[in-house]
Amino acid sequence: MTNKASNKKIIFGVTGSIAAYKAPSIVRSFKQKDYDVQVVLTSGGCRFTTPLTLSTVSGNTVLKSMWDDQGTWHNHVRLAKESDLLIIAPASANCLAKMANGLCDEMLYALYLSATCPVIVAPAMDLDMWKHSSVQRNIAQLVQDGVYVLEPATGFLASGLEGQGRLPDVEDITAFAEDVLSQSAQAS
Ligand SMILES: Cc1cc2nc3c(=O)[nH]c(=O)nc-3n(C[C@H](O)[C@H](O)[C@H](O)COP(=O)(O)O)c2cc1C
Repeated sequence: MTNKASNKKIIFGVTGSIAAYKAPSIVRSFKQKDYDVQVVLTSGGCRFTTPLTLSTVSGNTVLKSMWDDQGTWHNHVRLAKESDLLIIAPASANCLAKMANGLCDEMLYALYLSATCPVIVAPAMDLDMWKHSSVQRNIAQLVQDGVYVLEPATGFLASGLEGQGRLPDVEDITAFAEDVLSQSAQAS
């Protein structure tokens, strides 16, 4: 693990929440702070934002799948080991359920299971989804597994309802990530 932001590598996961449209701004903010950002999109994430936008703002090819048409293997184990932080923003309810249960049907979850660096999830969903006992059970499991959870903010939601479920602001996400990174640097 390295100390300068310019040498730090972040895996930035984007999943199928409506808040994924904000992901390019978050990636841009990490890039402005000199992090090397590798974006990984889930199949759901691809419906809300595009690989082209995310590769443009990150400066790296976006990883979407463990399989590709050229028969190339993306080495998720090496990528996970080389990274200083895995952050998933937004994290969908589906993503939380897969992580809490060790499912590994997408590149992002293979990276999660291989990661030895700190892991952050920033869930974003409608208020009743967030309150649902199954989602809260999965969150509790992830906390027990050592995952850092940046709780959703409260306010207006894409559904038209109001409550807790919004993806926090870009500055709050980057500040949380830098806090976790400095905690882990102090611990090592
Ligand atoms: C318009 C629309 C908005 C959605 N917004 C959210 C959301 O904000 N949070 C969430 O957890 N799921 C949301 N979903 C459901 C997810 O997209 C769905 O569970 C998907 O399978 C998640 O994909 P992923 O697991 O590949 O990330 C939404 C679905 C639709 C059609």
